[in-house]
Amino acid sequence: MVNTIEWTDAGVVMIDQRKLPAEETFITCRDYHEVADAIRAMVIRGAPAIGCAAAMGVAIGVLKASDENMDAEFEQVCDVLAATRPTAVNLFWAIERMRLLYQGQRDSGGSPSAIRQSLIAEAERVLREDIASNEALGRHGAALLPTGGTVMTHCNAGALATGGYGTALGVIRAAVEEGNPLNVLANETRPFMQGSRLTVWELQQDDIPVKLLTDSMAGHLMRRGKVQAIVVGADRIAANGDVANKIGTYSLAVLAKENGIPFYVAAPTTTVDLNLPSGDEIPIEERSPDEVTQIRGHQIAPVETEVWNPAFDVTPNRYVAAIVTEQGIARDPYVPALKALVEQASE
Ligand code: MRU
Repeated sequence: MVNTIEWTDAGVVMIDQRKLPAEETFITCRDYHEVADAIRAMVIRGAPAIGCAAAMGVAIGVLKASDENMDAEFEQVCDVLAATRPTAVNLFWAIERMRLLYQGQRDSGGSPSAIRQSLIAEAERVLREDIASNEALGRHGAALLPTGGTVMTHCNAGALATGGYGTALGVIRAAVEEGNPLNVLANETRPFMQGSRLTVWELQQDDIPVKLLTDSMAGHLMRRGKVQAIVVGADRIAANGDVANKIGTYSLAVLAKENGIPFYVAAPTTTVDLNLPSGDEIPIEERSPDEVTQIRGHQIAPVETEVWNPAFDVTPNRYVAAIVTEQGIARDPYVPALKALVEQASE
């Protein structure tokens, strides 16, 4: 499995996801501005991976901060990282976790060098814990998938989108590891093509059978009985179980209900935002029109075409058969179920 992100002495190393599958190249971010740029430009993407990057961004920011001005520089680092992408709550969760540690160390009079070392250790812990969460949620979710069935997924919720192993692809991986001979249908996921570029590449690396679809083919195949389950990741899950995920997810969920297909969401509890009562409050990122009018720099629509490019949508909880987390599985009624799992995670 690929190393999505890693802390090294030279800086924060990430596989450049914009270049996949054509090139496997790695970039090294040597300061927090470079980490922020990498998140914004989608060198690294996927909610849990963005969280890991943010934690490492804070650590590298403080590593380079002056002793005298550390508090002000800490705030500046957090503000710059928090302004990169608005939807995935893991970004804000990771910054908050680093902040709690920083403040605790400051309050207890830790030396600047001890604080720097503990922030690096914390960022590495965020990464390790994310991988462990994905492995755990994979085991919980594997039992939901029909033996030998065909499972559809959207976007990339794999090792690349996380610290490792993946959420939706973690569930699929765990099922395959347990001997379930699944087939996967990957939607290409216009406009950024996370499905065709990343999910297909990742599954091929693991020899998991996968067929690629354009997004508009999904409904036809569901109606023809070619899909037995759908499993996707999430960028933010509201307290009531409404799920923000990659644009196109909502349409899949509605089609799944219409066709009697279970629609599962797999995400660590770090993706659950109990502060938001419903999905209506989740901020939806709007990205550059160029992502829609161009493919790899090649213009495919008239120049200056007006574009709408929301990167995410919200699926109301009534379409979600279950939410799989590392703490276990939540089902309707989601408010108490999610609250219990999040509380369990913090014990
Ligand atoms: O814009 P992206 O590629 O960051 O969006 C990613 C997704 O929507 C994923 O499905 C989600 O973050 C879950 S990743 C485990």
